[in-house]
Amino acid sequence: MTTIDLDARFDPRELRNALGRFATGIAVVMAQDEDGPIGVTVNSFSSVSLDPPLILFSMARSLHSLARLEKAKAYSVNILMESQQDISNRFARAGEDKFSATPWEVGPSGAPRLVPAHATFECVPYAHYDGGDHVIFVGRVVHLHAEGEGDPLLYYRGSYRLLASIAQEG
Ligand SMILES: Cc1cc2nc3c(=O)[nH]c(=O)nc-3n(C[C@H](O)[C@H](O)[C@H](O)COP(=O)(O)O)c2cc1C
Repeated sequence: MTTIDLDARFDPRELRNALGRFATGIAVVMAQDEDGPIGVTVNSFSSVSLDPPLILFSMARSLHSLARLEKAKAYSVNILMESQQDISNRFARAGEDKFSATPWEVGPSGAPRLVPAHATFECVPYAHYDGGDHVIFVGRVVHLHAEGEGDPLLYYRGSYRLLASIAQEG
């Protein structure tokens, strides 16, 4: 017999631990306004559409930067390289001065971007959706930078990981 409980609730730690079994890369979302630059580490980044070119990430409603990010006219999503764990940690701490020790420049969209990054997607807002205790940002890519060499930084079960290759058979 099928049972579906729409009111099912899970212990947050149990849910987080299960979700953490999905391995991801790590990105830093950056934007700026008249009060200066803002940036947040995310691993909720995903590709959405090739035509039009769309990407998404989700932001906790508790973020200090949320209201400013929702109003941003452009933002960048910067995929981190394996050597950039310090940047991931810095942009994951609330309220810190995240930019003074970070190499960044203003990209052609007007959004700050990390230089170097493994890849950068400069976006304009396409849609914001309700995502429960998060807001889902869908961005339309207007500039692409994908010249970063080396390997990406990975995240799995609460820890940074490095990419390993599987020997090809045959
Ligand atoms: C690996 C990693 C991934 C994260 N992914 C997200 C995410 O996808 N969405 C989110 O809202 N916060 C995420 N966070 C937490 C935010 O980075 C952190 O709460 C944020 O930098 C605080 O910024 P604030 O100064 O705007 O509050 C992540 C943190 C880490 C370490």
